[in-house]
Amino acid sequence: MHELEAQLNELSAQEGLALIADLFPGKVTFSTSLGQEDQVITQLIAEAHLPISIFSLDTGRLFPETLDLLARTEAKYKQNIKVYYPNTESIEKLVSEIGINGFYESVENRKSCCFVRKVEPLKRALAGNEVWVTGLRAEQSANRSDMNRIEWDEGNQILKFNPLLDWTFDEMIEYINEKKIPYNPLHDKGFISIGCAPCTRAISAGEDPRAGRWWWEDSKKECGLHAK
Ligand code: ADX
Ligand code: SF4
Repeated sequence: MHELEAQLNELSAQEGLALIADLFPGKVTFSTSLGQEDQVITQLIAEAHLPISIFSLDTGRLFPETLDLLARTEAKYKQNIKVYYPNTESIEKLVSEIGINGFYESVENRKSCCFVRKVEPLKRALAGNEVWVTGLRAEQSANRSDMNRIEWDEGNQILKFNPLLDWTFDEMIEYINEKKIPYNPLHDKGFISIGCAPCTRAISAGEDPRAGRWWWEDSKKECGLHAK
């Protein structure tokens, strides 16, 4: 793994994606939340025709703008994005127990909601693959600053590849503008990190980029997808 990490450190994000696709044929999948990082990765995959499948987790509580962007992205890149949904029985049970917006009431409820709407569907999406590509950037949070480009995800028993790990926010925006990559219109209204609608708000200048996620909580601002 250290050798692969060293090799990837010498390559651009796109070259790294190509190398990983080559090393694990048919077993590499990319999770997109349609965020700016993810849109860059979709562009990199589509542009180089890399054999990497793409999926998204529709929690049932996303912004309509996010789902519109999913459709626009599929159309622009002629690329299928497989959409995974929460297990019907589990979500019906959870909502009957905590209420439709019960996630505001306690961290425990919030984590149960994220588990049913994201973490469990993610496990199904990753099944049968050997590498999971994500749009994580080190700059996004303290928890993410010590991640590696390639690392073993113990919880999901899969190699995780973060091709944009060392990209800065400005580099990413520059690339989006240069390549005319479609992005979520909410980014122009003060939203930086975008998740589910009831759990995301716009932020003001100078605020932490993840301050708008689960803003009513003091906790670590992670949903469990990227637990360590
Ligand atoms: S989260 O843990 O806070 O929700 P964040 O929104 O920063 O994650 O996104 C980080 C990465 O997690 C994304 O680049 C993407 O790879 C993955 N991800 C997050 N949410 C989703 C989603 N709904 N569907 C697919 N992938 C997702
Ligand atoms: Fe539920 Fe909010 Fe987590 Fe979305 S972000 S799964 S609505 S708690």
